[in-house]
Amino acid sequence: MTPRYAIVAAQSRNQVIGRDADIPWTVKGEQALFKKITMNGCLIMGRRTFESIGRPLPGRLTLIVTRQTQYAQPGCRVFHSIESALQDAQETERPIFVIGGGELYAATLANARQVHLTTIDLEVAGNVFFPDFPTPAFKLTHREHFESNHHYTYEIYEQPALETL
Ligand SMILES: NC(=O)c1ccc[n+]([C@@H]2O[C@H](COP(=O)([O-])OP(=O)(O)OC[C@H]3O[C@@H](n4cnc5c(N)ncnc54)[C@H](OP(=O)(O)O)[C@@H]3O)[C@@H](O)[C@H]2O)c1
Repeated sequence: MTPRYAIVAAQSRNQVIGRDADIPWTVKGEQALFKKITMNGCLIMGRRTFESIGRPLPGRLTLIVTRQTQYAQPGCRVFHSIESALQDAQETERPIFVIGGGELYAATLANARQVHLTTIDLEVAGNVFFPDFPTPAFKLTHREHFESNHHYTYEIYEQPALETL
Protein backbone atom coordinates (compact mmCIF):
# COMPACT_ATOMS: atom_id res chain seq x y z
CA MET A 1 0.00 0.00 0.00
CA THR A 2 1.27 3.48 -0.87
CA PRO A 3 2.23 5.44 2.26
CA ARG A 4 -0.03 8.31 3.21
CA TYR A 5 1.42 11.60 2.00
CA ALA A 6 0.40 15.14 1.17
CA ILE A 7 1.51 17.46 -1.62
CA VAL A 8 2.37 21.08 -0.89
CA ALA A 9 2.58 23.48 -3.84
CA ALA A 10 2.18 27.11 -4.80
CA GLN A 11 1.08 28.01 -8.32
CA SER A 12 0.19 31.15 -10.21
CA ARG A 13 -3.28 31.51 -11.76
CA ASN A 14 -1.83 30.05 -14.97
CA GLN A 15 -0.39 26.98 -13.14
CA VAL A 16 3.24 28.12 -13.19
CA ILE A 17 5.30 26.78 -10.27
CA GLY A 18 8.77 27.65 -11.53
CA ARG A 19 10.90 29.47 -14.04
CA ASP A 20 14.16 27.56 -14.63
CA ALA A 21 15.49 26.89 -11.11
CA ASP A 22 13.46 29.54 -9.32
CA ILE A 23 9.95 30.41 -8.19
CA PRO A 24 9.00 33.59 -10.10
CA TRP A 25 7.38 35.56 -7.26
CA THR A 26 7.95 36.70 -3.71
CA VAL A 27 4.80 36.79 -1.64
CA LYS A 28 4.89 38.01 1.94
CA GLY A 29 3.48 35.40 4.33
CA GLU A 30 3.43 32.52 1.87
CA GLN A 31 6.70 31.00 3.09
CA ALA A 32 5.47 31.19 6.69
CA LEU A 33 2.41 29.23 5.60
CA PHE A 34 4.65 26.59 3.97
CA LYS A 35 6.66 26.37 7.19
CA LYS A 36 3.54 25.98 9.33
CA ILE A 37 2.16 23.19 7.11
CA THR A 38 5.41 21.22 6.90
CA MET A 39 7.09 21.74 10.31
CA ASN A 40 8.32 18.47 11.88
CA GLY A 41 7.48 16.54 8.72
CA CYS A 42 9.47 14.60 6.14
CA LEU A 43 10.00 16.60 2.95
CA ILE A 44 10.41 14.61 -0.27
CA MET A 45 11.71 16.66 -3.19
CA GLY A 46 13.30 16.28 -6.60
CA ARG A 47 17.01 16.97 -6.92
CA ARG A 48 16.39 20.22 -8.83
CA THR A 49 14.10 21.56 -6.13
CA PHE A 50 16.67 20.73 -3.47
CA GLU A 51 19.37 22.58 -5.39
CA SER A 52 17.09 25.58 -5.78
CA ILE A 53 16.47 25.66 -1.99
CA GLY A 54 20.15 24.89 -1.39
CA ARG A 55 20.01 23.50 2.15
CA PRO A 56 17.98 21.24 4.40
CA LEU A 57 15.10 23.14 5.99
CA PRO A 58 15.23 23.38 9.79
CA GLY A 59 12.89 21.22 11.87
CA ARG A 60 12.14 18.88 8.98
CA LEU A 61 13.81 15.83 7.37
CA THR A 62 15.00 16.37 3.80
CA LEU A 63 14.71 13.44 1.38
CA ILE A 64 16.06 14.03 -2.13
CA VAL A 65 15.15 11.91 -5.14
CA THR A 66 17.71 11.60 -7.94
CA ARG A 67 18.80 9.06 -10.54
CA GLN A 68 22.47 9.94 -9.90
CA THR A 69 23.99 7.05 -7.96
CA GLN A 70 26.80 9.06 -6.32
CA TYR A 71 24.67 12.05 -5.30
CA ALA A 72 25.00 13.21 -1.67
CA GLN A 73 24.13 16.33 0.31
CA PRO A 74 25.02 17.02 3.93
CA GLY A 75 22.10 16.60 6.30
CA CYS A 76 19.88 14.99 3.65
CA ARG A 77 18.79 11.46 2.76
CA VAL A 78 19.12 10.53 -0.92
CA PHE A 79 16.94 8.00 -2.80
CA HIS A 80 16.88 6.70 -6.35
CA SER A 81 13.14 6.24 -6.63
CA ILE A 82 10.11 8.05 -5.25
CA GLU A 83 8.79 4.77 -3.83
CA SER A 84 11.94 4.15 -1.76
CA ALA A 85 11.82 7.72 -0.42
CA LEU A 86 8.18 7.24 0.57
CA GLN A 87 8.95 3.94 2.32
CA ASP A 88 11.80 5.49 4.28
CA ALA A 89 9.66 8.50 5.18
CA GLN A 90 6.91 6.22 6.45
CA GLU A 91 9.32 4.56 8.86
CA THR A 92 9.98 7.91 10.55
CA GLU A 93 6.28 8.12 11.52
CA ARG A 94 6.36 11.82 10.70
CA PRO A 95 3.84 13.38 8.30
CA ILE A 96 5.11 13.13 4.72
CA PHE A 97 5.04 16.06 2.31
CA VAL A 98 6.01 15.96 -1.37
CA ILE A 99 7.16 19.53 -2.00
CA GLY A 100 8.03 19.51 -5.70
CA GLY A 101 9.01 20.25 -8.23
CA GLY A 102 7.08 19.64 -11.43
CA GLU A 103 8.38 16.12 -12.06
CA LEU A 104 7.67 15.00 -8.51
CA TYR A 105 4.17 16.52 -8.50
CA ALA A 106 3.34 14.83 -11.81
CA ALA A 107 4.46 11.45 -10.44
CA THR A 108 2.77 11.66 -7.03
CA LEU A 109 -0.45 13.66 -7.44
CA ALA A 110 -2.73 10.72 -8.28
CA ASN A 111 -2.00 8.91 -4.99
CA ALA A 112 -1.80 11.91 -2.65
CA ARG A 113 -4.21 11.79 0.30
CA GLN A 114 -4.13 15.55 0.64
CA VAL A 115 -3.06 18.53 -1.49
CA HIS A 116 -2.19 21.87 0.09
CA LEU A 117 -2.42 24.22 -2.88
CA THR A 118 -1.72 27.93 -2.72
CA THR A 119 -2.75 29.94 -5.76
CA ILE A 120 -1.09 33.32 -6.13
CA ASP A 121 -3.25 35.95 -7.79
CA LEU A 122 -0.76 36.49 -10.63
CA GLU A 123 -0.24 35.45 -14.24
CA VAL A 124 3.48 34.85 -14.78
CA ALA A 125 5.81 33.46 -17.41
CA GLY A 126 7.42 30.18 -16.44
CA ASN A 127 8.45 26.76 -17.71
CA VAL A 128 7.53 24.42 -14.84
CA PHE A 129 3.83 23.79 -14.18
CA PHE A 130 1.53 22.18 -11.64
CA PRO A 131 -0.54 19.40 -13.25
CA ASP A 132 -4.20 20.09 -14.15
CA PHE A 133 -6.00 20.08 -10.82
CA PRO A 134 -8.34 19.28 -9.15
CA THR A 135 -9.34 16.03 -10.78
CA PRO A 136 -12.79 14.67 -9.81
CA ALA A 137 -11.26 12.35 -7.19
CA PHE A 138 -10.31 15.31 -4.99
CA LYS A 139 -12.72 17.19 -2.72
CA LEU A 140 -12.10 20.71 -1.50
CA THR A 141 -12.16 20.76 2.33
CA HIS A 142 -10.69 24.16 3.19
CA ARG A 143 -10.28 27.54 1.50
CA GLU A 144 -8.69 30.63 2.98
CA HIS A 145 -7.92 33.95 1.33
CA PHE A 146 -4.87 36.04 2.28
CA GLU A 147 -4.23 39.68 1.41
CA SER A 148 -0.55 40.42 0.71
CA ASN A 149 1.69 42.14 -1.86
CA HIS A 150 0.15 39.53 -4.17
CA HIS A 151 -3.08 38.14 -2.76
CA TYR A 152 -3.27 34.36 -2.51
CA THR A 153 -5.73 31.60 -1.74
CA TYR A 154 -4.81 28.53 0.27
CA GLU A 155 -6.85 25.40 -0.39
CA ILE A 156 -6.76 21.89 1.02
CA TYR A 157 -8.07 19.00 -1.07
CA GLU A 158 -8.56 15.45 0.14
CA GLN A 159 -8.94 12.25 -1.80
CA PRO A 160 -11.65 10.32 0.10
CA ALA A 161 -11.45 7.17 -2.04
CA LEU A 162 -7.91 6.49 -0.79
CA GLU A 163 -9.00 6.55 2.86
CA THR A 164 -10.80 3.24 2.49
CA LEU A 165 -7.86 1.38 0.90
N1 LIG B 1 5.94 26.76 -6.58
C1 LIG B 1 6.22 25.67 -5.86
O1 LIG B 1 5.46 25.29 -4.95
C2 LIG B 1 7.46 24.90 -6.16
C3 LIG B 1 7.86 23.86 -5.30
C4 LIG B 1 9.02 23.15 -5.62
C5 LIG B 1 9.74 23.48 -6.75
N2 LIG B 1 9.33 24.50 -7.54
C6 LIG B 1 10.05 24.85 -8.77
O2 LIG B 1 10.01 23.69 -9.62
C7 LIG B 1 11.18 23.68 -10.46
C8 LIG B 1 11.87 22.34 -10.31
O3 LIG B 1 10.99 21.33 -10.80
P1 LIG B 1 11.49 20.26 -11.89
O4 LIG B 1 10.30 19.53 -12.41
O5 LIG B 1 12.37 20.97 -12.87
O6 LIG B 1 12.45 19.31 -11.04
P2 LIG B 1 12.21 18.46 -9.70
O7 LIG B 1 10.93 17.72 -9.78
O8 LIG B 1 12.48 19.32 -8.51
O9 LIG B 1 13.47 17.46 -9.78
C9 LIG B 1 13.60 16.65 -10.91
C10 LIG B 1 14.74 15.69 -10.65
O10 LIG B 1 14.36 14.76 -9.64
C11 LIG B 1 14.91 13.49 -9.95
N3 LIG B 1 13.80 12.56 -10.21
C12 LIG B 1 12.56 12.85 -10.68
N4 LIG B 1 11.81 11.74 -10.75
C13 LIG B 1 12.58 10.72 -10.30
C14 LIG B 1 12.37 9.34 -10.13
N5 LIG B 1 11.19 8.76 -10.43
N6 LIG B 1 13.38 8.58 -9.67
C15 LIG B 1 14.58 9.14 -9.35
N7 LIG B 1 14.83 10.47 -9.49
C16 LIG B 1 13.85 11.24 -9.96
C17 LIG B 1 15.80 13.69 -11.16
O11 LIG B 1 17.06 14.08 -10.63
P3 LIG B 1 18.47 13.84 -11.40
O12 LIG B 1 18.42 14.72 -12.60
O13 LIG B 1 19.49 14.25 -10.39
O14 LIG B 1 18.50 12.38 -11.72
C18 LIG B 1 15.13 14.86 -11.86
O15 LIG B 1 15.97 15.57 -12.73
C19 LIG B 1 12.03 24.88 -10.00
O16 LIG B 1 11.71 25.99 -10.82
C20 LIG B 1 11.52 25.13 -8.60
O17 LIG B 1 11.75 26.46 -8.19
C21 LIG B 1 8.21 25.22 -7.27
